[in-house]
Amino acid sequence: AETSSRPIALLQWYDRHRRRLPWRAAPGETSDPYRVWLSEIMLQQTTVKAVGPYFEKFVARWPDVTALGRAAQDDVLRMWAGLGYYSRARNLYACAVAVTREYSGVFPDTEEGLRALPGIGPYTAAAIAAIAFDRRTMPVDGNIERVVSRLFAVEEELPQAKPRIQQLAATLLADARAGDSAQALMDLGATICTPKKPACSLCPFTEDCTARLQGTQETFPRKAPK
Ligand code: ADE
Repeated sequence: AETSSRPIALLQWYDRHRRRLPWRAAPGETSDPYRVWLSEIMLQQTTVKAVGPYFEKFVARWPDVTALGRAAQDDVLRMWAGLGYYSRARNLYACAVAVTREYSGVFPDTEEGLRALPGIGPYTAAAIAAIAFDRRTMPVDGNIERVVSRLFAVEEELPQAKPRIQQLAATLLADARAGDSAQALMDLGATICTPKKPACSLCPFTEDCTARLQGTQETFPRKAPK
């Protein structure tokens, strides 16, 4: 298939098979940047399954960023208890305070603006920019590295291959719906293109995946020996 058909095939798969996750907007609805930011911070070092109940508790108690920015830090840290990596909770609170006081409660809508906030690094900035604002940028995590390195049979090893994988990942962004393109790759990596025994017959790229054509799926991504 042509390169240009991949973003469409990916979105068609996502529209049928996307995971229903508490921070995702209903199809066709715009995502709330606060919910996207909160979920991305929680998901930095924690699984989707563990994050779910914490996300629900946080948005029930603090429905928007200004509510969180006016909370007492101790209450926020207490609510975070059990999620681990407590520097994330301190940065989360510092970010809410900054957005509340310095940005009148409105999240910046560019990667650069987002990256200037506490707790938001390059990956998280790209994820929020894509998912909340449909900026054409692809956040590349370990799951997406695996999908992309297989699809294009990237022989170069990680971590050196990161820029190449980033560049290839960006070719999978649809012109509109960048956020859905990103979340589609996340879901594909989590549910189909798994590290062991990927379910290639269910993949939208099944006819198109270089690693699958070679039968070498599980050998990607290539990694430098430790
Ligand atoms: N991991 C990080 N961000 C995610 C998201 N928005 N959906 C699913 N998994 C994720």
